[in-house]
Amino acid sequence: MNSKIGVIGAGNVGASCAQYIAEANLADVVLLDIVEGVPQGKALDLTQAGPIRGYNSMITGTNSYDDLKGADIVIVTAGLARKPGMSREDLLNKNAEIVGSVAENIAKVAPDCFVIVVSNPLDIMTYHFRVKSGFPSHRVVGQAGVLDSIRFRAFVAMELNVAMSDVQALVMGGHGDTMVPLPRYSTVSGIPISELIPADEIAAMTQRAKVGGGEIVKLLGTGSAYYAPAAASVEMARAILTDQKKLLPASALCEGQYGINDLYIGVPIILGAGGVEKIVELKLTDEESSMLKNSADAYKETLAALGY
Ligand code: LAC
Repeated sequence: MNSKIGVIGAGNVGASCAQYIAEANLADVVLLDIVEGVPQGKALDLTQAGPIRGYNSMITGTNSYDDLKGADIVIVTAGLARKPGMSREDLLNKNAEIVGSVAENIAKVAPDCFVIVVSNPLDIMTYHFRVKSGFPSHRVVGQAGVLDSIRFRAFVAMELNVAMSDVQALVMGGHGDTMVPLPRYSTVSGIPISELIPADEIAAMTQRAKVGGGEIVKLLGTGSAYYAPAAASVEMARAILTDQKKLLPASALCEGQYGINDLYIGVPIILGAGGVEKIVELKLTDEESSMLKNSADAYKETLAALGY
């Protein structure tokens, strides 16, 4: 029997997740949305691409949580994007409402699944999901660090004209203005990028990765990035489903690690069949530590605004 991945939200990120999952023949997909017709239509459209794209995954669209029964993993992309006249706080409260209800529904129909949260504000929504679902923290993880680091990896590969897959990078902290890129851990096939790229160019690429989501929002004019966010989410789903024990950055619940307590924030983790199997603690420089603390403090405040 194929594995089963539920994708909540049939917008651009959700539909791209379904496509990547199918193209990798990773699992059957259930695409769920509250809008009637849209998940069903996108699922049918994707299914019909199967004969020439070479996949056999069953892709189903639904408006009913019952169809998520037996899901091994659920990827949560549901939530609103900011519209004119909406404050960040409005978005926070609206998305907390949406993600909270998604969490309660998933806890009922798929109580043993692993969850990858993609909804923004990411670190906050991941925390909120865990509380509302009652799931243990190793089964709830937020996708952001993989996205932020693949952005940086792409910039490095473009700059050096080398294979994208040979470039590694690590980004910690929250998915937002307080992100903490760690270019000293970035390498091309093991060679530190500091030996290949001048420091000022590394600094410029670091800054570009930090605001990478905003660059795309600006270019698109409406909506935000979806191919890379979906690719990053599916990479994490694969790590869990196939027990890859991948070391990657993601939003995980810190309980003392890095001096941070009771907070979801981007840290290096080992992701495998046990979900978040470990948070890897690196020795940070004083500057990196203070950037991470700054990021954590900002999220503590936002959580407090949500009543935590
Ligand atoms: C981004 C949004 C989707 O970084 O969080 O593109």
